[in-house]
Amino acid sequence: MTPGREPLPPWAGRRVVLGVCGGIAAYKSVQVARDLTLRGATVDVVLTDAARRFVAPMSFEGVTGHGPLIDIFAVGDAALHVSLGREADCVCVAPATADFIARAASGRASDLLTTVLVATDAPVVIAPAMNDRMFAHPRTRASLAVLEEDLRYRRVGPAEGRLAAGEGSGPGRMVEPATIVDAVGRALGDGGPLAGSRVLVTAAGTREPVDPVRYLGNRSSGKMGYALARAAWLRGAEVTLVSGPSTVPVPYGVEMVRVETALEMCDAVLERVGGVDVAVHAAAVADYRPRVPRTEKVKRGVAGDALTVDLVANPDIAAASAARMKAGSVAVGFALETSELLTRARRKLDAKGFDLIVANRAGEKGAGFEIDTNRVTIIVRGEQPRELPVMDKFAVACEILDVVEERLA
Ligand code: C5P
Repeated sequence: MTPGREPLPPWAGRRVVLGVCGGIAAYKSVQVARDLTLRGATVDVVLTDAARRFVAPMSFEGVTGHGPLIDIFAVGDAALHVSLGREADCVCVAPATADFIARAASGRASDLLTTVLVATDAPVVIAPAMNDRMFAHPRTRASLAVLEEDLRYRRVGPAEGRLAAGEGSGPGRMVEPATIVDAVGRALGDGGPLAGSRVLVTAAGTREPVDPVRYLGNRSSGKMGYALARAAWLRGAEVTLVSGPSTVPVPYGVEMVRVETALEMCDAVLERVGGVDVAVHAAAVADYRPRVPRTEKVKRGVAGDALTVDLVANPDIAAASAARMKAGSVAVGFALETSELLTRARRKLDAKGFDLIVANRAGEKGAGFEIDTNRVTIIVRGEQPRELPVMDKFAVACEILDVVEERLA
């Protein structure tokens, strides 16, 4: 997010305590502090004594705007641990070292960070980071099991990959800052309007095989649908993303179902849509597919100067879904048009049984396929269209989900 822009849910105006322990991965915690701050959260950094040997306190002051807290015995701050714990909407510990995990599991309050933990009711996100042998050790496993029994704790990672100084490559590496920030966002969104609801999102374009190497496709990247899936997960929903081929990174926490053709997408959606509260049809589904894909590669020498491919209509996934959705659920459609945008979008809203439709014009600057921004108009049945300015796709996703939440309520 660019600085200065309105903070987006679920981070806006929330208070996060970021605990940093003494591990090599602590250098990445500065990025976590920065990203949380840029998203609109107030971040109180608490360093363990050992963390100071890995990363300079000044770095955190630079990105959060205020100095990190270290000393539980600082004069004038006698009740600091209690007030930090009470005011926190989320406590995030990254990196969480083996020593920290053992202390937290046994309920110790031996420094400021563990004392805050014992004084808070907020959800706690921990991002373990240590050597793979230490992570695999029975004591560490036992301590993690104790923490995971506590429903307020959620663990993110560790990931597999090369560890520091070439020491091993098993699980032990801290997950990337972006994933930690999303895990914090999810913890903050837990009590939100989408919490506990099931959301299905379709995304990207489909590929309709012509022969074993060629397909009919379109320019949809999947960015809008992936942003919607991520935003819904951050707001507490259980999200399934049914996606055509896409290179967009999979949002953390989202159940991924990869498909290729419209028929595969149709099966995947119809199988699941009866159980969801919200269905968002953001995929660019091919309207037609070759009736019979060739089994052999089409050769120019054989086909000659002209080639005719016989096409047949694909099922309308959104329309078929509408009939299966449960009462009170919300269906969202997309309409990308080259002309008569609002008229056509309204027609689609009715024809496909959507509750709201997101209309955008093909070829408009800052909107549409492949890019990171979009300019859309949201049309809710029976209401005035809401025209939005050019925004990044995550911000558009938040606007759409705001409307969905109103409908669900
Ligand atoms: O008619 P059009 O393809 O423009 O409709 C767009 C909307 O319908 C999108 O929400 C899209 O996901 C959905 N759609 C569908 N199945 C199709 C074609 C479109 O669900 N076969």
